[in-house]
Amino acid sequence: MLTGKKIVLGISGGIAAYKMANVASMLVKLNADVHVVMTKNATHFITPETFETLTANHVFTDVFDESGSMHVPHVTLGTEADCILIAPASADVLGKLAHGIADDMLTTTVLPARCPMLISPSMNVNMYENKIVQNNMQILREYGYEVIEADTGFLACRVEGKGKLPKESDLVEYILRACAKEKDLAGKKVLVTAGATKEAIDPVRYITNHSTGKMGYAIARMAMLRGAEVTLVCGDTAIDDPLFVDVVHIKSAKEMYDAVTSRAAEQDIIIKAAAVADYRPAEVADQKMKKKDDNLSIALERTDDILAYLGAHKKDGQFLCGFSMETENLIENSRAKLEKKNLDMICANSLRVAGAGFGTDTNIVTLITKENTTELPIMSKEAVADEILNHIAE
Ligand code: CTP
Repeated sequence: MLTGKKIVLGISGGIAAYKMANVASMLVKLNADVHVVMTKNATHFITPETFETLTANHVFTDVFDESGSMHVPHVTLGTEADCILIAPASADVLGKLAHGIADDMLTTTVLPARCPMLISPSMNVNMYENKIVQNNMQILREYGYEVIEADTGFLACRVEGKGKLPKESDLVEYILRACAKEKDLAGKKVLVTAGATKEAIDPVRYITNHSTGKMGYAIARMAMLRGAEVTLVCGDTAIDDPLFVDVVHIKSAKEMYDAVTSRAAEQDIIIKAAAVADYRPAEVADQKMKKKDDNLSIALERTDDILAYLGAHKKDGQFLCGFSMETENLIENSRAKLEKKNLDMICANSLRVAGAGFGTDTNIVTLITKENTTELPIMSKEAVADEILNHIAE
């Protein structure tokens, strides 16, 4: 996702500097061209050689270091960067940047930059809460820097409190949101559903299906990276909630119905990737049902079809996209659902082909609209999500 992007990591003197090796490595795996700039104090915690090995680029610690191949490195790096992340940002670096002091390689690299700039302060809780430091963060926000709130937890100084560097994958997600994708969905409200519903039989048992939520989560995340304001309504999953997305956790089809229909009118795009139960037990036992010698039948009643409701109440200009999972007659059955539920598009996937369906990281999807049928090859669920959004954006 970061092919062709130049990311500058500015590392200052704090113990969390060691975590930045992982951030650099994760960015390299996303194909970014990663350049590291360190303050002198940062080199006490981790060596430049670590980052040179990970990034295959020269690491700068001194404004007058011309040993790399770059001309006037601090100007070139700052100007050419697609995104700069300063992490950990010490109180000293926050103070300097807030007041335009540029007396080392890190601070001089930041001043000429015009790209998105992220600052992740990390320090002792008392330093973090100090009014001067808080004021400097506020000044930086007003200048357009995005200041990433520190996490709370056990700090290196042996106290619990706010001041921890957020986890590495979160920092990478901030960078992705800042520069990975065109913001072609900016200003759009997108609601996505994901995962399986659970229909209670008694306090112990429930009826569900094999959906893991991966496809819907990928759509929500990609829409967020493309600038949309995203709400994700999802059943229980093992996946961490995506950052920068409003996540609404539900259990039953009824809860999903309430969560989706109450938010539907304000959405520009609704994508229903969830696997919703069509039936639920007609009666839910208050107490655990004890087994008997006889066989047991459970009476089931229909749930509301959320997508059909949305199709019947679609507002002008709203785009409604459903999913369809079939084991036979994929295209005909899916096209019938498109028409019956008044959808603009349906993403059809078959359970019968390897690489598609529940729990996999890939999917094989056919996008069906009133006019067209587009068969996509096997792709990662992220790439499928992007294709779905491309079709909708068009
Ligand atoms: N769906 C829904 N509410 C339901 C059942 C399904 O909103 N109670 C939505 C799903 O989120 C999906 C689409 O309808 O986007 C199609 O779901 P699918 O299970 O493939 O089809 P059904 O319409 O339920 O029909 P059938 O089970 O007979 O194939």
